[in-house]
Amino acid sequence: MILDKKIAILTGATGGMGRAITSALIRNGVMVYGIGRNADTLKKIQEEEGENFHPAQLDITDEAKVDQWIKDNFSATHCPDILINNAGVGSFHKIDETTTGTWLEMVNTNLNGMFYITSRVAALMKQKGTSSHIINIGSILGKIGRVKSAAYCTTKFGVHGFSAALLLELRQYNIKVTCFSSGSIETGFFKTSGIEPHENMLHPSDLANSIIHILQTPDNMLIDEIVVRPLNPKAPEHII
Ligand SMILES: NC(=O)c1ccc[n+]([C@@H]2O[C@H](COP(=O)([O-])OP(=O)(O)OC[C@H]3O[C@@H](n4cnc5c(N)ncnc54)[C@H](OP(=O)(O)O)[C@@H]3O)[C@@H](O)[C@H]2O)c1
Repeated sequence: MILDKKIAILTGATGGMGRAITSALIRNGVMVYGIGRNADTLKKIQEEEGENFHPAQLDITDEAKVDQWIKDNFSATHCPDILINNAGVGSFHKIDETTTGTWLEMVNTNLNGMFYITSRVAALMKQKGTSSHIINIGSILGKIGRVKSAAYCTTKFGVHGFSAALLLELRQYNIKVTCFSSGSIETGFFKTSGIEPHENMLHPSDLANSIIHILQTPDNMLIDEIVVRPLNPKAPEHII
């Protein structure tokens, strides 16, 4: 896809990955509709990025509001070319210490929110006919298990399955689907999720550049799945 003048919806625009993806998209001429709940951060991003950033203060777990926002902003003649489902939350506990509230927050954000937006945007993209691309941000924890991670792993394995099935359904409409699974990234996720950061985390801007590369592939070339890891996530003596 040639990115210049394309329209993108990006969820989780206010977080570490979202901020880096926003900059990379706007650098390449894309108009970004950035979704997050934090109005102050959205305003700041708009000040920094200018008129190509359209802030949307929206909780993606609220289906009615997501539906209305899509109807208010998009149509067959102003249709998103790119959807990046990046918003996500994580909280890591033993299963018998995981509250229903914690479980539901992850399922509602990482899975249900992704479904609410994707189902509406896919309907618009299908009418468009020209090339479109949906990128779902998964995780390495959508491919392997980890202790104290049953809830998060459930959602990220779900992102993987959702992406694989969606691709088969949407490819005939020239809609690409990619699942982008990453290991630890240096973002605020580590503060909110309560897991320990380490010294060799991936940099969001490097991952954003990979996302640009995936988007820029020729229309008939699809990278459907990508897994990115820090080469040495821990000190060598801890690696088995
Ligand atoms: N950091 C890592 O090590 C890592 C590794 C693998 C995968 N990931 C995945 O990468 C993605 C981005 O995470 P990050 O590392 O950038 O974390 P982050 O800095 O904590 O950002 C999370 C983003 O999700 C948004 N969000 C959360 N709940 C939302 C809701 N209900 N409605 C709308 N937006 C919501 C937050 O925005 P508001 O707070 O403004 O709503 C924020 O923009 C997530 O899907 C995460 O699971 C992260």
